[in-house]
Amino acid sequence: MFKLRCIECNEVNDEKNYTCRCGGLLEVVYDLESIEIDFKLDGNLSGVWKYRSLLPVKIEPVTLKEGSTPLYKAERISKIVGAKVYVKHEGLNPSGSFKDRGMTVGVTKAIEFGKSAVVCASTGNTSASMAMYAAKAGIKAYVLLPAGKVALGKLVQALMHGAKVVGIRGNFDDALKVVKKVCEVADMYLLNSINPYRLEGQKTIAYEISEFLVPSRVFVPIGNAGNISAIYKGFYEFKELDLIDSIPRMVGVQAEKAAPIYKAFLEKKMEIEPIKNPETVATAIRIGNPANAKKALKAIYSSKGCVEVVSDDEIIDAQKLLAKEGIGVEPASAASVAGLIKLAEKGEIEKDEEIVCIATGNLLKDPEIVLKICGEPEIVEPSVEAVLSTIKNLK
Ligand code: F0G
Repeated sequence: MFKLRCIECNEVNDEKNYTCRCGGLLEVVYDLESIEIDFKLDGNLSGVWKYRSLLPVKIEPVTLKEGSTPLYKAERISKIVGAKVYVKHEGLNPSGSFKDRGMTVGVTKAIEFGKSAVVCASTGNTSASMAMYAAKAGIKAYVLLPAGKVALGKLVQALMHGAKVVGIRGNFDDALKVVKKVCEVADMYLLNSINPYRLEGQKTIAYEISEFLVPSRVFVPIGNAGNISAIYKGFYEFKELDLIDSIPRMVGVQAEKAAPIYKAFLEKKMEIEPIKNPETVATAIRIGNPANAKKALKAIYSSKGCVEVVSDDEIIDAQKLLAKEGIGVEPASAASVAGLIKLAEKGEIEKDEEIVCIATGNLLKDPEIVLKICGEPEIVEPSVEAVLSTIKNLK
């Protein structure tokens, strides 16, 4: 039904491997011709498992009813960029980010392989999601985080759902390096996005978009570069299956000071040069050595897409703009919209385009940044005069 194949040397790997002997990333490939598709693209979303015939699991899934996220028409953003813009709000998944689509598959594979513990390095959302699904499955969860650099909402989720959390003196890239080594010596199942099964769940973002339209472009924030690769794979498979006619151009958006994939794209390369000290207000994508860079660059080049970079100010402006549309997101999510606005300002967006921006995580993930942007509310005496005079003076 499916096999794990190396994207570098094409070798078929054991189904429990994370990476190939040659060091290459692995990808789940299906014999698409022999698969019986048992769903219809009829606009009825029923979550990730609607697409079970294209997911690599053999047991009943560990699920919290993830997916089925809304695709909003963004009126104000459409006006600004002069095209039809939609936002897929992945922040409305059970743990508040798109990671749940991957974790329902990843944790199910952990159970299928008989594992009793899962582990990840994380900028926050992966750990929150993994902790939640591990709790649901009744297995142990271990999490390595860059100390002091994880948004509060994500940290409290990992803690409350019972993960054992360790802070690392270093950044995400350091944590990922360590966690890979930990998995060589301890019997823990690695659930970072180098795990090819996780990306299978995330490709359902593309499947759900295809229920309604095939946009000309899809904008995705890039951190460890798994999600953009997964979304491209989803569209690619649907095109191979003749379920859609074309593949959207994949546009990756990175934060200015955490942008190794942008640099590789400018130089038309497949290899990145890691950035030692990545920095951005969007802590979720504060990553200098994205593990899935090759898959992401392949997706971007194959779809005739591109990579854009955005500053912290542009990210925050886009976060505020999304909030005005009624869409509450954390900073990293807003990078997709910030990238779209930047491309539009360069005159690269055409009038009749239909565009989807992926909003990857919920506003509540990072409450501290909101207080920095908006300030704390004023406190007054409980009298009508005090309230009215304060409201009058509020900006
Ligand atoms: N947006 C959010 C809100 C994220 O949490 C992440 C990644 C991304 C975008 C980027 O996705 O890594 O697939 O390119 N967060 C990871 C984590 C790294 O540990 O939670 P990517």
